[in-house]
Amino acid sequence: MTDIMVQHAYATRAAEYTALLGTTDAAHEEDQRLIAGWGKSLRGPAIDAGCGPGHWTALLANHGADVEGIDLVPLFIDKARSRFPATRFRMATLRALGVPDGRLAGILAWYSLIHLSPAALPLVLREFARCVKPEGSILLGFFEGPAGEPFPHAVTTAYYWSVGAMSQHLLATGFKVQEVHVRTEPECRPHVAIIAVRTTPEG
Ligand SMILES: C[S@@+](CC[C@H](N)C(=O)[O-])C[C@H]1O[C@@H](n2cnc3c(N)ncnc32)[C@H](O)[C@@H]1O
Repeated sequence: MTDIMVQHAYATRAAEYTALLGTTDAAHEEDQRLIAGWGKSLRGPAIDAGCGPGHWTALLANHGADVEGIDLVPLFIDKARSRFPATRFRMATLRALGVPDGRLAGILAWYSLIHLSPAALPLVLREFARCVKPEGSILLGFFEGPAGEPFPHAVTTAYYWSVGAMSQHLLATGFKVQEVHVRTEPECRPHVAIIAVRTTPEG
């Protein structure tokens, strides 16, 4: 999926998405705990990459993180700003976060990598590696399944990733996997969260 396709698809569903999924209360309690705990561990600036209407960005900020939300859908940025006026949001793409090299202590990419075509995933992970300082960490949430297989997500085409394939991509782009959380529940696509740490030049 190109950025323009994703932008258009979410723009037409942004109000609906915000009403249905735009609060942390709508998320699983394990995810709320995981993201809050990760946010508290950050030592320096962070980005919520693909923030949608901004609820995770605000949660991280409420836990003391120096965080900014970025998204490519203008309506999401407008909604995020009006819902959480004390939190920073701006338009940007995952492919170019607009921060200097090694600036960030962390990046949250919660269900935002899912629309990247398989060839684009390593490009975005390399951009994350460029922006995150050594020992900084990233937290990814995605649907578990056969690596790179497309499926008809409610908004627009998305792609499954296996833990093994995502871990390989992370290793190849300068991260080491620190935590893996898998959850399977009836009538839900399997969920994975991975915390990975930026390796130092020495590894
Ligand atoms: C499934 S929603 C998740 C939103 C939010 N992180 C959450 O957990 O509710 C995917 C989000 O990623 C954003 N997104 C997808 N591809 C993107 C890209 N290439 N650059 C920036 N944002 C992107 C979409 O606009 C959308 O807000």
